Amino acid sequence: MTATIERGSATARVNSPADAAAKTAKPRRPGGLLGSSNGKKAVMAVTGAILVLFLIGHMAGNLKSFFGAESFNAYAEFLRTMGEPILPRRVLLTVVEVVLAAAVGLHMWSAISLARRAHKARPVKYAAKRKSQAGGYAVHTMRYGGVIIVLFVIWHLLDLTFGAVNPAGWDGTPYERLVQGFDPSRWWVTVFYVVAVIMVGLHLRHGLWSAFQTLGLAGGRSYRPLKGVAAAISVVLVLGFLAVPVAVMAGAIK
Ligand code: HEM
Repeated sequence: MTATIERGSATARVNSPADAAAKTAKPRRPGGLLGSSNGKKAVMAVTGAILVLFLIGHMAGNLKSFFGAESFNAYAEFLRTMGEPILPRRVLLTVVEVVLAAAVGLHMWSAISLARRAHKARPVKYAAKRKSQAGGYAVHTMRYGGVIIVLFVIWHLLDLTFGAVNPAGWDGTPYERLVQGFDPSRWWVTVFYVVAVIMVGLHLRHGLWSAFQTLGLAGGRSYRPLKGVAAAISVVLVLGFLAVPVAVMAGAIK
């Protein structure tokens, strides 16, 4: 009886011209590749790869600080003069910065829309606690870790790029900002860096592992080795990044 009434009312709604118009006006999901889950995963993988390459280059560049002020400042100057004399000073660096900012934005957009789609497909939580990446731990690491990383990058730019929150300020050299920024009296800055860089490592480990799975590489025999590869790349990056603030704190870089 109820079913008949419901079906009846549904039929009436579809036939009403006002509702039909409202139905036509309903915003539609973007079609094409970017509207599909596979398209979004591809955006996430490509932007993630850009960010990983940046991190590897950035970590290697930071290690120049172990060779002294001259070596590190020369590297920082190279970043600003890349492309000269064809391009004016800082133009190529600005292009890199825009690409990085776009990669971060698109990476977050694809992550959020994939998470929303997964939530819509399964609004009711699984009854059993799951250890897999669809479950709690990885979702939390990626979501809250991602937020901490974004906050860290904002602080980091104000600190070491613009000198706004750094004792050496804008007028200091990049090396002076580095050494004064991680001065032992500012131990809390180093603690923040350690937490953020570990978050980057966890984010990366999970991101690389997900990318391997999306690419269909992580089946059968390659499952364990590729999990190891994702973990090894992340550990090398974390140790490489942390070496510099720890060395400044310990007085090995001064
Ligand atoms: C903990 C170790 C780190 C140290 C010692 C460090 C050091 C630096 C320094 C010295 C600069 C300024 C370079 C210059 O003025 O030429 C810089 C810029 C930057 N860093 Fe880091 N960094 C670290 C970790 C990270 C991490 C983990 C990320 C990203 C998640 C990151 C993202 C950036 C970005 C986006 C810039 C700006 C690049 C540009 O202007 O083009 N850094 N970093």
